[in-house]
Amino acid sequence: MYIAAPSILSADFSKLLEEVKDVSTAKFLHIDVMDGHFVPNITIGPLIVKSIKGKVDMVFDCHLMISDPKKYTESFAKSGADIITFHYEALNSKEEILDLIDYIHSFKIHAGISIKPNTSVDVLDEEILSKVDLVLVMSVEPGFGGQKFMENSLPKIKKLRELKDKFKYNYIIEVDGGINKETAVLVKKAGVEAIVAGTYVFKSQNRKETIKELEKDF
Ligand code: DX5
Ligand code: ZN
Repeated sequence: MYIAAPSILSADFSKLLEEVKDVSTAKFLHIDVMDGHFVPNITIGPLIVKSIKGKVDMVFDCHLMISDPKKYTESFAKSGADIITFHYEALNSKEEILDLIDYIHSFKIHAGISIKPNTSVDVLDEEILSKVDLVLVMSVEPGFGGQKFMENSLPKIKKLRELKDKFKYNYIIEVDGGINKETAVLVKKAGVEAIVAGTYVFKSQNRKETIKELEKDF
């Protein structure tokens, strides 16, 4: 059984709560936060997260595509984020990375780290992998929904799965971008555990069936 994480980036924001309730059979709600600086797009802030918190029984999986994740950690944590995932590329040193993981944990929530398509999985070393609760492999360039899946995510997922099995790490392996019926099978075969899907879920005829499709074995 896989974790489905519908991404509200593809929802109709004029009726956001209705849209969120409609996908609430999924375990995770993926919330894409963009600052117009780390990525060209601007999306959701903590106020929106707060407005839907408590209205559905889902894990709030906040994906921070922002240049200064530490600055906004507290407000997202207090607004209801259950997982805060920041980007490896947004930070300047390993010290900053380890410090941010601890800082996120200080709010009694989970910490995730994400890598963009051009970042090697090898930048995530033992020290990082043993501390994080989630590793998010981007299978598109972060910034927009509806892009084409990039296959270079597959060996990264495989590697993370091998390392997890070998060293008994606790992180959840998540993938994000370009997921559809076919690419979902590819990431499952590679060893993913949580699957983010925006367009595929929100634009489908039957969202609940699409969520089930994501959750089931290949
Ligand atoms: C892209 C976001 C994704 C996006 C995925 O930067 O991180 O979560 O919503 O959208 P799809 O599933 O349409 O590729
Ligand atoms: Zn995302």
